[in-house]
Amino acid sequence: MSHTKLCSRPIKGLILDIAGVLKDGDIAIPGSVEAVAKLQAAGFPFRLVTNETLKTKKVITKTLNMLGFRTTEREMFSPIPAIVEILKKEKLRPHLLLHPNVLPEFKDLDMENPNCVVVGDAEECFTYETLNESFRKLMEMEDPKLFSLGIGKYYMDDDGLALDVGSFCKGLEYATGVKARIVGKPSSDYFLAAVDDLGLKPEEVVMVGDDIEFDVNGAQQCGMRGVLVRTGKFRKTDESHPRVMPDAIVDNLLHAIELVLNSVQNFKHKI
Ligand SMILES: *[C@@H]1O[C@H](CO)[C@@H](O)[C@H](O)[C@H]1NC(C)=O
Ligand SMILES: *[C@@H]1O[C@H](CO)[C@@H](O)[C@H](O)[C@H]1NC(C)=O
Ligand SMILES: [Mg+2]
Repeated sequence: MSHTKLCSRPIKGLILDIAGVLKDGDIAIPGSVEAVAKLQAAGFPFRLVTNETLKTKKVITKTLNMLGFRTTEREMFSPIPAIVEILKKEKLRPHLLLHPNVLPEFKDLDMENPNCVVVGDAEECFTYETLNESFRKLMEMEDPKLFSLGIGKYYMDDDGLALDVGSFCKGLEYATGVKARIVGKPSSDYFLAAVDDLGLKPEEVVMVGDDIEFDVNGAQQCGMRGVLVRTGKFRKTDESHPRVMPDAIVDNLLHAIELVLNSVQNFKHKI
């Protein structure tokens, strides 16, 4: 496959998916530690974008560091800081239905007399009691607003499948008639917030992911280019997807990074 599509315009920044691109579970994908080190050595701007809402940036960074990635919290982008920014910007007072692990990240916000509800993966804290409380809060609001950190239906946990935040968010939507705003992949709001965090425009940024719908199509929908890697959840059939055409399909992250850094060199030489 040629990469003329990917390299037709200058690339100034990257957004990298973590699960299935940097690592699979607790194992670094071959070449990915070297790939990230190459980006850092070249001083090339990037963000690691995840929709993980059970852990703070600090904990995710620590996990990556243990696998050999020398990444920092600054390079990490996750739904929690994104929603905190939105709440501050829009002067909203949230009622939180989240896992206790991440509550400290909201400590600077006013939560008296809430005018919105934020739901994220709360695991065992999703109970009738807590869902009913969020439901009542929404029903009492004059102009109810609901935010959902991601919209996954379910995910694979250590011991099998587990219900994800999307299923609970849909229940609250159904009961209240309020449509949730999604802060997480593949929402454009979320991708654009990550691009903004890089200080770049979408057309200058390339997303690298293993999910053809959420990562590649999600990125392309908001003006970025999308590269699909043949790692993680990649399936052979993705190469002939009926609707989504990645700007490049590569074997792994290292291959993607080499293409991008080469293309940057080529553009320099043309000037
Ligand atoms: C529903 O939620 C409200 C508010 O938290 C609570 O007071 C009430 O007891 C709940 N109802 C049930 C049946 O748990
Ligand atoms: C996170 O994004 C991936 C796509 O990269 C998706 O498959 C997964 O279901 C998402 N999880 C959540 C919690 O939204
Ligand atoms: Mg992934």
